Amino acid sequence: MTDGASVRETSQHDQPDLHTTAGRLADLYQRNDEAVHAGSARAVEKQHAKGKLTARERIELLMDEGSFIELDELARHRSTSFGQEKNRPYGDGVVTGHGTVDGRPVCVFSQDFTVFGGSLGEVFGEKIVKVMDLAAKIGCPVVGINDSGGARIQEGVVALGLYAEIFRRNVHSSGVVPQISLVMGPCAGGAVYSPAITDFTVMVDQTSHMFVTGPDVIKTVTGEDVGMEELGGARSHNTRSGVAHYMASDEEDAISYVKELLSFLPSNNMDEPVVFDATPDLEIDDFDRELDTLIPDSANMPYDMHTVIEHVLDDGEFLETSALFAPNILTGFGRVEGHPVGVVANQPLQLAGTLDINSSEKAARFVRTCDAFNVPVLTFVDVPGFLPGTDQEWGGIIRRGAKLLYAYAEATVPLVTVITRKAYGGAYDVMGSKHLGADVNLAWPTAQIAVMGAQGAANILYRKQIKAASEANPDDPAAVEATRQELIQQYEDALANPYLAAERGYIDSVIPPSYTRSYVTRALRTLRTKRETLPPKKHGNIPL
Ligand code: HXC
Repeated sequence: MTDGASVRETSQHDQPDLHTTAGRLADLYQRNDEAVHAGSARAVEKQHAKGKLTARERIELLMDEGSFIELDELARHRSTSFGQEKNRPYGDGVVTGHGTVDGRPVCVFSQDFTVFGGSLGEVFGEKIVKVMDLAAKIGCPVVGINDSGGARIQEGVVALGLYAEIFRRNVHSSGVVPQISLVMGPCAGGAVYSPAITDFTVMVDQTSHMFVTGPDVIKTVTGEDVGMEELGGARSHNTRSGVAHYMASDEEDAISYVKELLSFLPSNNMDEPVVFDATPDLEIDDFDRELDTLIPDSANMPYDMHTVIEHVLDDGEFLETSALFAPNILTGFGRVEGHPVGVVANQPLQLAGTLDINSSEKAARFVRTCDAFNVPVLTFVDVPGFLPGTDQEWGGIIRRGAKLLYAYAEATVPLVTVITRKAYGGAYDVMGSKHLGADVNLAWPTAQIAVMGAQGAANILYRKQIKAASEANPDDPAAVEATRQELIQQYEDALANPYLAAERGYIDSVIPPSYTRSYVTRALRTLRTKRETLPPKKHGNIPL
């Protein structure tokens, strides 16, 4: 990036003599200076007062120091409508270019709200398109920093055209280079669809807003009264809609999360993720042994699946994605022996770890992201089944739950699954089962792999016996209950274990929980050379 301070010292700010070399140099510095200060001091002050950084300050935070090379710093719009020809700031309201993050190339665009409210006109759009094309050509991630009033009203349909050009590139780059969106201000109307297509969207609490139609339009059309923050703030999109994958406390936090995300992803789909140095250590220690006492004796008692994950990942470090959305499933990245791995895990602490629409879609998207970018998927299973209810059925759990099994079945990256406790019914199949293509399936002795839980099964299987007991003891409900409990126990003893699955090879090994880190590490080591391809086709038809 041009160093504003040194440029200011050098530039003369009076008209340089363009007939001399010194004058031409001074003229260049002057133009650079104007580009760096395209937004008025008042607009910058307003931006800072809102707790927001400027477009360039954000890039500085993201990129390695001194690595940023700006493109099209001197580009200007050509519009003459609405008197625009009188105001043609350099850069046209967006800063684009490339640099490095942790030493690896990254392309970036950063919308500058201090110039035309960051609104997207023709030249602004062309700059973004150009840097996206560069990223696709050289195979590096794109980070898009969004802070914009949307389509530049004065430029009309040209702005809309450029949005669609960006969307098309987002789609074509999807699964080719990682694309990450930071929303750090308004992002409204159709403009939201660029972040929506990218792999991850990060928003900042209180200062980011995304919506297709704003509060005023909603009020006019539906009569609903809703504020900007409630409608499209970071919290709403992290907890309710699932549009955003992280709610940052401030802009620094948002950018540091994006850097961490990038550290788990390769530069492109033909590349492998970066491997950190790690000392091989397969010895079972006291920390591992803590897992041996984690599972409660009662199947109805919850426990925190984070504990399992943290006992397996290097240094217990788990970068969660969408932590606030569908918390009944956990997704995120970590490392095993220094190699990145994506984790998907049912969370018994929330909705008993059931699969519902939101958790299925959250996990499906995550598995596909890992698969696209060569990151193995490690799945921890404790799932009592799909969440019952008309909400779920009418909301489309059939087609939307299908996404998760589709994602696992099409994944060709190494897949390692560990069943810690319940794996009932269709949810057993869906959660990275051997039958969908998982490579290594492990189970703890506490695993219960069955068509359904003992309570439900006993009521169906032993209906006649329970009825007979009730008829024989019409005045003794305790005796009926005792019979029922006995039958439940019979079912549990016969079916609610991992050994029937192990007999058939659906489970490769039943292991003490304390051996999980060691088994997972060796499984992932073995699978590093895995190569699998799917039948050639134009593309699959995932239920959407
Ligand atoms: C041109 C715009 C602009 C726009 C803001 N500005 N949005 N100029 N086109 N879309 C200008 C303002 O005129 C103002 O210029 C400066 O940017 C800062 O804006 P303010 O309104 O002063 O800022 P603030 O109060 O923070 O409000 C921000 C805002 C508001 C909420 C984003 O500006 C706003 O509602 N803008 C319009 C949003 C909108 O309806 N966009 C179109 C959406 S449809 P001066 O010169 O006064 O500093 C869309 C379709 C995309 O985008 C389609 C893709 C398929």
